[in-house]
Amino acid sequence: NENEFEKSFKEMISTLPKGNCWGIYKYLCQYQGFWLHPSFLRGVVSAQQQFQAQPTDIILCSVPKAGTTWLKSLTFATITRTSYNDSTTPLLFKVPHDIVPFMELHHAQFFTNRDRGIPLLSTHVPYSSLPRSIIESGCKIVYICRDPKDSFVSLYHFIARILISRNAQPLGLYEAFELFCEGESFYGPYWDHVLGYWKASVEHPGRILFLKYEDMSDDTEFYVKKIAEFVGYPFSSEEQKNGVIERIVKMSSFEKLSNLEVNKTGVYGTPKTGFVENNTYFRKGKVGDWKNCLTAEMAAQLDQITMQKLSGSSLSL
Ligand code: A3P
Repeated sequence: NENEFEKSFKEMISTLPKGNCWGIYKYLCQYQGFWLHPSFLRGVVSAQQQFQAQPTDIILCSVPKAGTTWLKSLTFATITRTSYNDSTTPLLFKVPHDIVPFMELHHAQFFTNRDRGIPLLSTHVPYSSLPRSIIESGCKIVYICRDPKDSFVSLYHFIARILISRNAQPLGLYEAFELFCEGESFYGPYWDHVLGYWKASVEHPGRILFLKYEDMSDDTEFYVKKIAEFVGYPFSSEEQKNGVIERIVKMSSFEKLSNLEVNKTGVYGTPKTGFVENNTYFRKGKVGDWKNCLTAEMAAQLDQITMQKLSGSSLSL
């Protein structure tokens, strides 16, 4: 029951190491090796205890600011392409996060989507902390990551925009940078998050599709085809000839989504986690924007950490 859960959750949280929350909350908690916002942690623990995955579920996983919103839109448009078209798709009226729920915020609501034939759920939970049923059910996992320099810059601006909208003072860039390098960022350490999914995808290539934002930007159609095949909704040659993939890519493009009224003016969130303006999820959508924000020294420092952390893994970022 809920009271018991709340009581044991509070007890558990009081024992966890606390870290800097970039000014957006009192602290982050270190849980199973990763730094989590307490409200999200509540959902993670609840999902670990209760979430029952089914083999047909599709879980979209990501490290924050790696392209979650984009992946949600592309995958949703792909698997619902026979139910909706460009003028009826819910993507026109809802931010992708309201369409594909986050496990740690809304896993209970997900069952309705599944019953409607849209078995899509998303999460930032690290691989090692996923509910056991996700691993055991053999359901499909699609993971997206990104050059940590761009993810850091994206995260920094994201948090700053939220704080400014709440009339609060954002953290300095360098202070945030040092925390990020130390691994003290949302669902960080960043590199451990990426490596967890990378290793699992090498071990279980049929179960986990590992994607990079940069590759997706380079040839989005190719990756939409790949995602569709992987999750069991492949495009027929007829569909390909008729430009269905192209239309999905266009519908989910940064230009299209960021200019929709709902994404310019709407808000997303829950009373517990707080609300965020939808436009905060759309900033520039470019590869390599870190060049406009980081000094050469900062970039070299991040590259150095990335090289060290990924050495021996066959992954490069
Ligand atoms: P920038 O801050 O570099 O612009 P997430 O969705 O995981 O929170 O990641 C946010 C990043 O993805 C932001 O990066 C955002 O602009 C970018 N993004 C959002 N929608 C996108 C889209 N449709 N295509 C490409 N990038 C997108």
